[in-house]
Amino acid sequence: METTTTTIDVHLEPDWWRTTLEQDVRNGLTAENKSIPAKWFYDELGSQLFDQITKLDEYYPFRAEREILRDYSSEIVEAAGADTLVELGSGTSEKSRVLLDAMAKANMLKRYVPFDVSEEMLRTAAGDISRDYPGVEIGGVVGDFDRHIPLVPIGGTGMVAFLGSTIGNFPPASRTRFIADVASALDSGGTFLLGTDLVKEPERLWAAYNDADGVTAAFNLNLLTMLNRELNADFDLDHFEHAADWDAENEWVDIRIRSTAAQQVCVKDLGLEIDFAEGEELHTEISAKFHLDGIASELADAGMTVVKQWTDSNDDFGMTLARKE
Ligand code: AVJ
Repeated sequence: METTTTTIDVHLEPDWWRTTLEQDVRNGLTAENKSIPAKWFYDELGSQLFDQITKLDEYYPFRAEREILRDYSSEIVEAAGADTLVELGSGTSEKSRVLLDAMAKANMLKRYVPFDVSEEMLRTAAGDISRDYPGVEIGGVVGDFDRHIPLVPIGGTGMVAFLGSTIGNFPPASRTRFIADVASALDSGGTFLLGTDLVKEPERLWAAYNDADGVTAAFNLNLLTMLNRELNADFDLDHFEHAADWDAENEWVDIRIRSTAAQQVCVKDLGLEIDFAEGEELHTEISAKFHLDGIASELADAGMTVVKQWTDSNDDFGMTLARKE
């Protein structure tokens, strides 16, 4: 019988979730310009709402990326020549499977390294993958993008995938650092596969974050429900509203929660009383949009050269494969 090994390295401290949430919320709500990082959207309901977003008519990026992966995964894995796939933010590993299938078909697949912040999700996904891809070695990593990319065991012919245009959620400085971290983690010859939503007509960008059914609004406002539950806060959902607009200068969709009245909010667990003016906004997410040549130059700045770029049939979404020099 063929034996395979699965190891999971956990880099997050047991109290990471609580400590980081408290720190992020305290910093974010007491700042001059209020904000909460987008990573806190994804509690159980938030993840379900995001899943619903991917099915909306207005939300094209998910379908566009899936089309690229479907049509070009064999080209991608051939161009990468990789025997190891690392997926950053692997979640359920659903997207990884498309690439793993292509690697297996080309007889190249040896190792899979899922990286995610959720240990529970990662263990489940790793178990499913080891069952469905017998003979593949699995080396999962539980960590966060800010600190643990340098600890990912990639190896010589690894391909690191970062999909879903999640990179668009990083503010510019974090984005530069993230790309540099990926480049340092790769050996020379290793590759980076990056999925990015592309700049397009403002109307379509606006609609993708202001859907008619209000699912994106519910996803955004669920952040307040989460804070009420986890930190004993008393945000009144009737007096906050979703706001999302295309910022043409920065080329990102800017997402906020707007206070519709002058009000005070208590965050009991943090001992905070926070004042909101009428119309004041709490910033929750940016979703940057890209140009193919802009991505190439950001990657070049970190020592990676584009091997090839693909788009979907509508040129809505880009997939870039770059090689570390
Ligand atoms: C998680 C980056 C794919 O920015 O489009 C969707 C999250 N926020 N609608 C994006 C999101 C509001 C999403 N990504």
